[in-house]
Amino acid sequence: MPAYAVIGAQWGDEGKGKIIDFLAENAAVIARYSGGNNAGHTVINDAGTFKLHLVPSGICWPHAMNVIGNGVVVDPEVLLKEIGENDLAPERLAVSDRAHLIMPYHIVLDELEEKRRGNAAIGTTGRGVGPAYVDKVSRQGIRVGELLDPEDLAMRLPEIVAFKNEVITKIYGGDPVDLDEIFALTNKWASKLSAFIRPVENLVADALNKDENVIIEGAQGALLDLDHGTYPYVTSSNPTVGGTLTGLGMGPSSYGGVAGVFKAYCTRVGSGPFPTEIHGDQGDRIREMAGEFGVTTGRARRIGWFDGVAAKYSARVNGFDGMIITRLDTLDGWDEIKICVAYEIDGVPTDQFPVDAVTLDRAEPIYESVAGWSESTRAITKPEQINPGAKAYLDKLEEVVGIPVKVVSTGPHRNETLVIQDLLD
Ligand code: IMO
Ligand code: MG
Repeated sequence: MPAYAVIGAQWGDEGKGKIIDFLAENAAVIARYSGGNNAGHTVINDAGTFKLHLVPSGICWPHAMNVIGNGVVVDPEVLLKEIGENDLAPERLAVSDRAHLIMPYHIVLDELEEKRRGNAAIGTTGRGVGPAYVDKVSRQGIRVGELLDPEDLAMRLPEIVAFKNEVITKIYGGDPVDLDEIFALTNKWASKLSAFIRPVENLVADALNKDENVIIEGAQGALLDLDHGTYPYVTSSNPTVGGTLTGLGMGPSSYGGVAGVFKAYCTRVGSGPFPTEIHGDQGDRIREMAGEFGVTTGRARRIGWFDGVAAKYSARVNGFDGMIITRLDTLDGWDEIKICVAYEIDGVPTDQFPVDAVTLDRAEPIYESVAGWSESTRAITKPEQINPGAKAYLDKLEEVVGIPVKVVSTGPHRNETLVIQDLLD
């Protein structure tokens, strides 16, 4: 099974990093394909706790090559920080020369654009990710590989910075960025990063040709996808499976499978519709118990019950062949657990996920309840250790979403993982 994708199936923060770290033991390459340091992935293993934003979650395994694909937008300051903190060498990390750079003016614009949106703000992470993708599409972006050609960059940069400063000052009334400072930064980035910059599509292809496992690491989630998510409350890339091919430069025939990572409940950070949101004490209880605060921005995550309508939609647009359920242990000790099995919109029941955010905002969830369980599922690693109540909940999720549960996470540590069916077989 050479290529296997692990994709966020909800609104991000599903626990992808933990799962990737677990799976990377048996992989030669771990590759990110979309997003930037808007991601926040927590990896906990015997070596410690790692909070990662840009580098893939396979970095704790000495044998693994970690790849940042062309579809990712790269803030070199964040990359240098993560390389330094984790002592990464070019033998273990490669960055695509085709990936686009997040420049200082993208971060400035992210903040100014959000301010201007006022009440309609998206609640972005403020990391410049959206504006960097805008420049990629409008063909004003700067690619990582251009750092290696300072003369060419010196010719392009003044025009781009002049244009950005017009937008910053004349449209938003902000302070202009300084061309010389930016040019100096690009020189620093070039000298410190050059050894990491490579045509990573070759690296991925070589591993696949040798029949080595390549794990494709999702960031964000399907419901934040620019095309398939709750537009306009989305991120500016394609976290769904299609993004893996464009974002890494590989073909679909390499694929052995695609798994969706789902929390046993739902969370969302930032604005946008969230039909199963739990307001009040119950939501607060889950947030406090599970530490549901953003790794990137520290914001309190909104909490909701498992949304089966959204989950089925996510499974369909990604072609998931299995579910990875995380945070099951957070639900230990509840009397009753709800699962949304349909919506009622303007009095009409439906199991279809609406196309627009305004309609989704009017969706009233129709719930089914399962009895909770009092036994702890924390740290269990074998299917026979699952108590009947938790088993009934997992069975219900399978029934609602229509695909099998293959892996269950029963705690944040790498070892707190229960494999029902091996993903990489
Ligand atoms: P991981 O990889 C959760 C959300 C932001 C905001 C919207 C747009 O940890 O699952 P952006 O900065 O991308 O322009 O913000 O997307 N968002 C995430 N939410 N997890 C993430 O990543 C996210 N990355 C972006 O909160 O609502
Ligand atoms: Mg996260």
